[in-house]
Amino acid sequence: MPRKSIPQARKPRSAQRFRRLLLAWYARAARDLPWRRTRDPYRVLVSEVMLQQTQVSRVAEYYPRFLEKFPDLRSLASAPARAVREAWDGLGYYARARSLHALARSVAGRGEAGRGVAKLPEDPQELVKLPGIGPYTAGAVASFAYEKPVPAVDTNVRRVLRRVFLGDAGRGTGDGYIWELARALVPKDGKRAWRFNQAIMELGALICRARRPQCSQCPVRPVCRTGKRLDA
Ligand code: ADE
Repeated sequence: MPRKSIPQARKPRSAQRFRRLLLAWYARAARDLPWRRTRDPYRVLVSEVMLQQTQVSRVAEYYPRFLEKFPDLRSLASAPARAVREAWDGLGYYARARSLHALARSVAGRGEAGRGVAKLPEDPQELVKLPGIGPYTAGAVASFAYEKPVPAVDTNVRRVLRRVFLGDAGRGTGDGYIWELARALVPKDGKRAWRFNQAIMELGALICRARRPQCSQCPVRPVCRTGKRLDA
């Protein structure tokens, strides 16, 4: 018996073209950001937590300083709460720092002087079990640090996918569907997936912005259900 279920997101026909246009644009337009130069899972995690609620320019300023003070999970785990708070000062939403600190402690072991492994898991399903890590951050760490071919859907990515592949019909589409769509689109090769995930975020930040999207400059306009109709 066929079951009633949420419509499954299939790979859109324009998927290949979308990826090609997006990656070609990223190759020429990407910003050189410090967290794009590392594959260290801890460093990637710190950047993603900071970027959740803080502008790129501000994160770019605080990120290197934070890493100088706490260069790895172990040093963060053994730091006093006050020191973590001070290093986070200026970034706001301090709950993120507390939760990052708790995560470091749970992975690295509280104040352990020994040499137990302090390593973040590679699998998004394991990552989401850690304190303060949601599906987005789990996907971002798996892709940006471990080059796993998995999606990472944040607000920007969600907006881009809705506009490009769903258009007006996409209003109110559930999150599950968007994640499936992202899963269908993300390249199977991990290095390509890394670039794809960075690129779609970059498109959301620079071109496909929430307000006043720059459709006239958009590399994926030829395949976009929303931008094709606009004169922008
Ligand atoms: N926002 C969240 N993750 C990001 C990244 N890796 N680069 C730029 N902006 C981001």
